[in-house]
Amino acid sequence: MMESKDGDQSFGTLLKQGAEARVFESNFIGRKSIVKERFSKKYRHPALDSKLTLKRLNAEARCMTKARRLGVLTPALYAVDPLLHTLTLEYIEGPAVKEVLLGFGSCGIEPKKLGDMAVQIGSAIAKLHDGGLIHGDLTTSNMIVQTETDRLVLIDFGLSFTSTLPEDKAVDLYVLERALLSMHSTCGNVMDQILAAYRRSSKQWSATFNKLAQVRQRGRKRAMIG
Ligand SMILES: Nc1ncnc2c1ncn2[C@@H]1O[C@H](COP(=O)(O)OP(=O)(O)O)[C@@H](O)[C@H]1O
Ligand SMILES: [Mg+2]
Repeated sequence: MMESKDGDQSFGTLLKQGAEARVFESNFIGRKSIVKERFSKKYRHPALDSKLTLKRLNAEARCMTKARRLGVLTPALYAVDPLLHTLTLEYIEGPAVKEVLLGFGSCGIEPKKLGDMAVQIGSAIAKLHDGGLIHGDLTTSNMIVQTETDRLVLIDFGLSFTSTLPEDKAVDLYVLERALLSMHSTCGNVMDQILAAYRRSSKQWSATFNKLAQVRQRGRKRAMIG
């Protein structure tokens, strides 16, 4: 651990300061790594806070490991530190899907690469869902295309949970659909391609898609009122 200028504990170079966690680029026995530190919420009682933070930390580690077991690529988990509230993960080299899509937007779409990525996204989500795991934060920042292998790696299981309910799966897909529509509207039918791949990979696609239609409708009604 390193001491930063302001005397704070630091694990390396700060990559992201979020509402619940700080993410650092670090080094784990000679390997480039990521340290994700969950920090306390000042408004909560310290003992309760520590308990909740630890619970969430363990849940994130467990969900990431479960995703791996289901055949979805995730960073390897190097260490969990219950005292410092940190996870140490394998560093995945490569652009986020967000950057790839923004690149497509500006340079014209390379349909084969886009299609390949959509297939990987759809089948990864299907594997999670059929295994009873909801990612909880399916945005294009939480997906990395690993440069070395050209394969999709899912990250950030900080909001993940286990569920077999079609409703939870539908909401998971809906979050991604909204993210794609708002950020990457120039990428055409990428969500359709993702859903087509999901449908091919998931045994339970039908119940999920029925719910997705309802979730979309609720979303539209809400948009009309708001
Ligand atoms: N294993 C990893 N390899 C490479 N970059 C990562 C990895 N984990 C996180 N990052 C980078 O850090 C950012 C934040 O990490 P993330 O786990 O998504 O935390 P948050 O919950 O704050 O979004 C990611 O968007 C990504 O840019
Ligand atoms: Mg994230």
